[in-house]
Amino acid sequence: MSLEQEISRRRTFGIISHPDAGKTTLTEKLLLFGGAIQKAGAVKSSKIKDHARSDWMEIEKQRGISVATSVMGFNYQDIKINLLDTPGHQDFAEDTYRTLTAVDSVIMVIDCVKGVETQTEKLMEVCRMRSTPVLCFINKLDREGRDPFDLLDEIEEKLNIKVRPLSWPINMGKGFKGVYSLYEKSLHLFTPSKTTVEDGVAIADIHDPQLDALVGENNANQLRADVELIEGVYPDFDVNEYLNGRVAPVFFGSAVNNFGVKELLDTFIRIAPPPIARETTLRIVEPNEAKFTGFVFKIHANMDPKHRNRIAFVRICSGKFARGSNYYHVRHEKSLRFSNATAFMAQDRETVEEAWPGDIVGIYDTGNLKIGDTLTEGEKAVYTGIPSFSPEIFKEVLNKDAMKTKQLEKGLQQLMEEGVAQLFTYELGKKKVVGVVGNLQFEVIQFRLKNEYNATVEFVPQNIYKACWISSPDEKKLQEFIDSKQRHIARDKDGKLVFMAESRAWLQMVQDNFPDIQFHFTSEF
Ligand code: G4P
Repeated sequence: MSLEQEISRRRTFGIISHPDAGKTTLTEKLLLFGGAIQKAGAVKSSKIKDHARSDWMEIEKQRGISVATSVMGFNYQDIKINLLDTPGHQDFAEDTYRTLTAVDSVIMVIDCVKGVETQTEKLMEVCRMRSTPVLCFINKLDREGRDPFDLLDEIEEKLNIKVRPLSWPINMGKGFKGVYSLYEKSLHLFTPSKTTVEDGVAIADIHDPQLDALVGENNANQLRADVELIEGVYPDFDVNEYLNGRVAPVFFGSAVNNFGVKELLDTFIRIAPPPIARETTLRIVEPNEAKFTGFVFKIHANMDPKHRNRIAFVRICSGKFARGSNYYHVRHEKSLRFSNATAFMAQDRETVEEAWPGDIVGIYDTGNLKIGDTLTEGEKAVYTGIPSFSPEIFKEVLNKDAMKTKQLEKGLQQLMEEGVAQLFTYELGKKKVVGVVGNLQFEVIQFRLKNEYNATVEFVPQNIYKACWISSPDEKKLQEFIDSKQRHIARDKDGKLVFMAESRAWLQMVQDNFPDIQFHFTSEF
């Protein structure tokens, strides 16, 4: 197969949702369709359930599982699908955001009872920043959910994206009859089932009396009224608007009942984008360029604490990756040999001989690679758009064993390189503050520092609302700002200046008082 053909048959995406909306269930059904797993429960059984407190074993388990399910590659109808996991629940972390920089599109799962929830809002912000195409699956239609029109309004309002339903539910909960595909003009009747998938009945004209016979007169009339309203309110679906991240097509279904999932997948492979051009510091790189390029979007420490080898996840952006080749590590300005790359197929890892744009390869690394690093065949271009985002919870790290200061420094540095959390070092007094997105990360850090680096730490909560990267076209004004806010100025791991804002209101006031200073919520601006 040619490079062009390999590119056009790839779809690399992530599923985003609030915990419990049905991401794991949907993932599993997609894998079943792709023949990547044989029975339901394979993904589910490896999922860690919420616990009030997690113990050490659980943290360890979690790390192992998240490597196993980090990338699931499978084939479906000649299409190579790479599904990247975006961890939710307690393990929701910085790298959940970062993973979204490595996908070409996302499927967003929303629970029809709960509607749009906070975690989805946060993840959607990242998608919007990058204009990532979003396809929406409203799940759990077998339950009494909210009115579908209200749900669509909520998505538009809270997620700040236009929607266009491509299917429409006929009733919900106990009275749920099925969905009408506005895209294919066919009716899919619902039968609760975890395995079988029935073909839809073609109903080209919604006024066809066959519809009344199939779903009952009342439901048929309601559907007609709804469809009329939809056609009147929403513009026709324009695939380019979707590809530009401006419109999210919406599907309804029930993942656990395997209902609506095949339609979602079939439409997804048809309209979702194959790997597209990406920006670097020098130029835009097209995926069909012959030379290999890629970037590291995730680093995962290996399970064996005695060997500090890690797996770096590299997203291939152009050309062909061939095992055993030397590639240029732009940050280190040197050539590295990659003889031990791994491909991710469903839950197995296997050695890979070659990989193509859109694919993810895992590279065993002993400390050379860092998140955001670019690999090329010699060009000094660096992929952009892989920023750090402001964390939400901040705690000071206190060293409880002065004899182990060196170990602590090293451990902190390595954990930060993995993207477990972010470290901010204050200019005054050199106070070290760790910022995370989910609270569990503090336990993970504390445990791993002890276990892998023999360093003991304690965390002290800090009253910080956001870390804002600061800049100004006027150097003098920037210095004046730093001088006047000395106690709140820190540096991130790359030495960039950060203002640690204590509250939203205070930040607003500071912004008003210093109009020449720009405050950024991501490290790339
Ligand atoms: P997550 O990964 O987004 O956190 O969600 P997950 O798939 O684990 O689903 C959360 C719960 O919702 C699970 O129930 C799952 O079975 C259920 N679920 C998923 N899809 C549907 C659906 O279409 N309809 C209904 N009614 N429920 C659905 P659980 O009780 O937490 O787990 P389990 O005991 O069923 O395994």
